Amino acid sequence: MWADLPLFPPQASTSAWQVDALYFFLLAVSGLMSVLIAGLLVVFAIRYRRGSAASRAHPVTGSLKLELFWTIIPFGVSMVVFVWGAALFFHLSRPPDETMDVLVVGKRWMWKLQHLNGRREINELHVPVGRAVKLTMTSEDVIHSFYVPAFRIKADVLPGRYTSTWFSPTRRGVYHLFCAEYCGTKHSRMIGSVIVMEPDAFQDWLGGGTAQLSAAAAGERLFLNLGCATCHNPESGSRGPSLAGLFGSRVELAGGETMLADEAYLRESILDPKAKMVSGYEPLMPTFRGLVGEEGVLHLIEYLKSIGPSGSGQEREQAAGATKQSTSGGERS
Ligand code: CUA
Repeated sequence: MWADLPLFPPQASTSAWQVDALYFFLLAVSGLMSVLIAGLLVVFAIRYRRGSAASRAHPVTGSLKLELFWTIIPFGVSMVVFVWGAALFFHLSRPPDETMDVLVVGKRWMWKLQHLNGRREINELHVPVGRAVKLTMTSEDVIHSFYVPAFRIKADVLPGRYTSTWFSPTRRGVYHLFCAEYCGTKHSRMIGSVIVMEPDAFQDWLGGGTAQLSAAAAGERLFLNLGCATCHNPESGSRGPSLAGLFGSRVELAGGETMLADEAYLRESILDPKAKMVSGYEPLMPTFRGLVGEEGVLHLIEYLKSIGPSGSGQEREQAAGATKQSTSGGERS
């Protein structure tokens, strides 16, 4: 129904109708309030116009009942909006356990996307229908914002940190992708499309193109080329901690606190190794800022995920992706 109104973009993800439901609820509440206030305004203006015969003998000077009535009802309505909005926000912020991951780097003025099997795209994102897709995003320069109206998702893409968003497309088609944060001269040209395909067609597409290293394999190659293994090597003695199984685990820092080794932590430890020293190690590691770009850091992190212990969420997720991709020749280390 609403989706057929040309006023609104198509509802093409599982979250779309949920966002719309809240939106239309807000619209209805605002509409009712506007009609109520404007209506009473007109009624009273006519009734108490100059010279009208309406009685003015008993002006109301205070009413506890009335005060309670117009305090409690708006309070209830705003709490409904608050709880509903918060629940929806959490739902949109937390990707499901099982996702297909895509790496996104925003750059003036283009979107660079990469699938974990290595296939790259510029300003286009191919995804299969019916599968939850998680985007891990960062920027090489200024703040951008990844906006797909048909999926009702919009997430800022920031330099110097990772943000993520997810969606699960429900309809085949080609949908607009916008940058929704003014980022300079060609901001309005920083657009693209999300192409939602049948799963089989998507697998063919994913396996096509020129053969490329998977993201994890590219990370492994970087890891060797940069000499990381010299210190991060179980046989190297105590210069650097072993990185196998690090992703998703909790590390103990020099100060005694523990920290979840997630994407943000790994990124910081590569670019600013002294920021969070692991307990028991000397601050020997140099920064790799300038030596690896954002894509390189993302690849290194995918490599570190791939040498994680079995059983963790990410590992399961990767394994699931690998089995699905191996059927179509997409390779992954
Ligand atoms: Cu990127 Cu606007």
